[in-house]
Amino acid sequence: MWKTAAHSFMVPDSNENSLYADNNATSPLAPEVWEEMRAWSGAAFHNASALYGPARNAARAIGHAREQVAALLGLKDSHAVVFTSGATESNNAALFGAARGNPSRRHVLTTSVEHPSVLGPCAELEREGYAVTYLPVDSNGALDPAHLQHALRPDTLLVSIMHANNETGILFPVGDLARVVKEFDARVLVHTDATQSVGKLPIRFGKELDHVDFLSMSAHKFHGPKGSGALFIRESAPWRPFMLGGHQEEGRRGGTYNVPGIVGLGRACELASQYLDTHEQTSRLRDEVQAYIAGHIPGAWVNGANSPRLPNTLSVSFEGIEGEGLVHQLSAARVYISTGSACTSGSTEPSHVLRAVGVPEPFVHGSVRISFSRYTTAEEAGKLCEALAVSVEKLRRLSPKKRGVQGTPDVHPITVRTGSKGDSA
Ligand SMILES: Cc1ncc(COP(=O)(O)O)c(C=O)c1O
Repeated sequence: MWKTAAHSFMVPDSNENSLYADNNATSPLAPEVWEEMRAWSGAAFHNASALYGPARNAARAIGHAREQVAALLGLKDSHAVVFTSGATESNNAALFGAARGNPSRRHVLTTSVEHPSVLGPCAELEREGYAVTYLPVDSNGALDPAHLQHALRPDTLLVSIMHANNETGILFPVGDLARVVKEFDARVLVHTDATQSVGKLPIRFGKELDHVDFLSMSAHKFHGPKGSGALFIRESAPWRPFMLGGHQEEGRRGGTYNVPGIVGLGRACELASQYLDTHEQTSRLRDEVQAYIAGHIPGAWVNGANSPRLPNTLSVSFEGIEGEGLVHQLSAARVYISTGSACTSGSTEPSHVLRAVGVPEPFVHGSVRISFSRYTTAEEAGKLCEALAVSVEKLRRLSPKKRGVQGTPDVHPITVRTGSKGDSA
């Protein structure tokens, strides 16, 4: 049901009966996070940089949130955490800040499947005269460390490799790749865009991230608020601030503190570590949906099935239909998934990621991304399977592209089996 807000647009007033499976685009706020944010949104409105009592309380809340972020990442020193407006800003700050901090080095290495918030700064650096190498991935979405090794140059400034891909969920072994970089030259900086993996997987400094100098994260991908993120900056890394203004964040990021957003991020981090064991259940649900598709919907291709992936993500391409049509069809049934990255939704062209992993041509236009969260239940996964089978079949009947797809989906009410019902805390 929809109701008219005070303004002219419509806002949803209930999630009842809808099924949300687009958590890589954004995820619902955890109720505990909302509670925390509310406490800092009303009477406690003060500027955290001011000197009077209530403002000092806000500054303390920010300090606590910094500790919560550091704890999730396994950092001993929370000072390395700089609050930002989200991962787009963190990525821009990492790339431009590293470039400004090392003016004599003019080469950047990244991958062909990065998020636009890394590819955009790379393109800008190219316009400024930098050389940028885009490493390819194979059909499993994997990066060959030998390619990385060969591409490193004496003037390489930065290597930026994402931790998990937002469209396919495929994971890169960032720790191992960072070691290859540092063995070549310890002064080459390493950045990872970990926006899709923080909060979904245990990723920790002091373990696999020891050679990483910058890490980007964003609260809204793991049940925190939109417009709030962080950048880890290794103390020893030469880096210049990107967002200049006030003295907030010890001059590393100017701008009045977004206190509710920051405390929301902190609480979301704390909850993410408490709920780490739900990832197994989420991946079980994902695998069951994948198995259902393989068994019941002919002409389906799972992207990255043979690669380590995020537990919540399923990227699948259906022969003979348009992914966008499928998203609309499912939306009419109040089942919400996406064609891939939120940033490329709306374009009928397959994304650069699916092109890079070499999804075969008959399939690539029919690609969709399903992304679960710790709130997804087995019942919902079952409903999603049914809705998918019905919608694919319907679109194929209507589509002139359906030729060549053998068989029709075997649509039965299905039960997705898991140990227990999804967590709804
Ligand atoms: C891998 C990746 N990096 C960066 C971003 C940008 O994050 P934000 O929305 O916080 O700017 C996203 C969001 O879709 C993402 O998936």
